[in-house]
Amino acid sequence: MGTAVFACKASDVAPGSVIRVDFDQGALAIFNIEGSFYATDDRCTHGLSSLSKGALDGDVIECSLHYGGFHVPTGEAVLPPCSINLKTYVVEMREDDVFVVLD
Ligand code: FES
Repeated sequence: MGTAVFACKASDVAPGSVIRVDFDQGALAIFNIEGSFYATDDRCTHGLSSLSKGALDGDVIECSLHYGGFHVPTGEAVLPPCSINLKTYVVEMREDDVFVVLD
């Protein structure tokens, strides 16, 4: 059972974009894909890169370092050289607030 913590306002993340939010447990990337919000680890599983600095193409985030990519809703590694799936987090919307459930 995780704890839902406030991440950001929905309006902080424009549709088709991603921001980084830092928590004590680490940095998360918060995505807005056509009005649906998703949360994943911000750090690429391939190396030391912040995915919130990458390019969001539909529901795939492309890492800016070696152009690997992940399917945001599932965290599945879909573009090489990424092969390790990305950790995803449950998102809860409370009015205009985005909460994520941390472990
Ligand atoms: Fe992300 Fe290499 S660090 S693809």
